[in-house]
Order: sequence, then C-alpha cells, then structure tokens
Amino acid sequence: MPSRVSCHEYLFYLSNVLTVMKLILTGATGTIGGAVLAKAILEPAVAHIVVLSRRPVATITNSSKVTVLIVHDFMLYTEAELAQLDGADACIWWVHLDLIMRNTISR
Ligand SMILES: NC(=O)c1ccc[n+]([C@@H]2O[C@H](COP(=O)([O-])OP(=O)(O)OC[C@H]3O[C@@H](n4cnc5c(N)ncnc54)[C@H](OP(=O)(O)O)[C@@H]3O)[C@@H](O)[C@H]2O)c1
Repeated sequence: MPSRVSCHEYLFYLSNVLTVMKLILTGATGTIGGAVLAKAILEPAVAHIVVLSRRPVATITNSSKVTVLIVHDFMLYTEAELAQLDGADACIWWVHLDLIMRNTISR
C-alpha cells in the first residue's frame, strides 16, 4: 500500500484486508478513525472492536460489536483494560500523528 492515500483509498484497502476477528482501534472520534469504525462495524469478518478513546464515541453506541475503553494515558493500561485487549488480531491506530511523535520524543 502506498504511504500516502486518501480516506476512500484506505477504506477500500481495509475492505480487502479486514479478515480479522478482533480489532483494536484508536482515533474513532476523528474523521479517519470514525470512517474506519463505521466500515469495521459493517464488516462481517470483524466480530469485536475495542475502541481506545479519551472521550465517548457518540456515533457507535448502537453496535453490540463495539467496546469503548476510556483511556486517559495511551501509554498506560490497567490489568482489566489489558484483559479487554487480549486476543486482538489487529490494531488500527488513527490518533493524530502529533501524539505519537510527542510520546516518542518524551518517553
Ligand atoms: N483526514 C485525512 O484526509 C487524512 C488523510 C491521510 C492521513 N491522515 C492522518 O490521519 C490521522 C488522523 O486524521 P483525522 O483527519 O482523522 O484527524 P482528526 O479528525 O483530527 O481526529 C484525530 C483523532 O486523534 C485523537 N487525538 C488527537 N490528539 C489526541 C491526544 N493527545 N490523545 C488522544 N487522542 C488524541 C482525537 O481524539 P479526540 O476526539 O479525543 O480529540 C481523534 O480521535 C492524522 O495523523 C492525519 O495526519 C488524515
């Protein structure tokens, strides 16, 4: 996959590779992460989506596939939170790049 693609190209790519059963997703309150979440909910091969978010994700409250974990520090997880992530087949990380860069630099 090319390093720079449009949202539509990425979703098309995802529709061809999403054969996982359990997915971890970040950035679900954002433009891209929200679109990926909507696509993943509709994807039959995805049985469970664990969303890591610092605030509630209003758009997906009616899907039984989705568990939202409210996380205050994306680098720190309780044992209970780690247990919810256990067994995931893939993680799609759509938090804005600045966060990753800041953490990489400061830790
Ligand atoms: N939009 C595009 O067309 C496009 C295309 C290619 C690549 N990208 C890249 O894709 C990434 C996401 O883009 P986007 O348009 O979806 O961005 P966006 O709409 O601004 O969403 C950003 C997401 O990151 C989360 N986030 C930001 N800062 C955070 C922090 N400090 N801690 C925890 N969560 C944080 C936001 O959560 P909150 O709701 O809690 O703020 C939100 O879910 C960016 O790196 C962007 O450069 C975007």
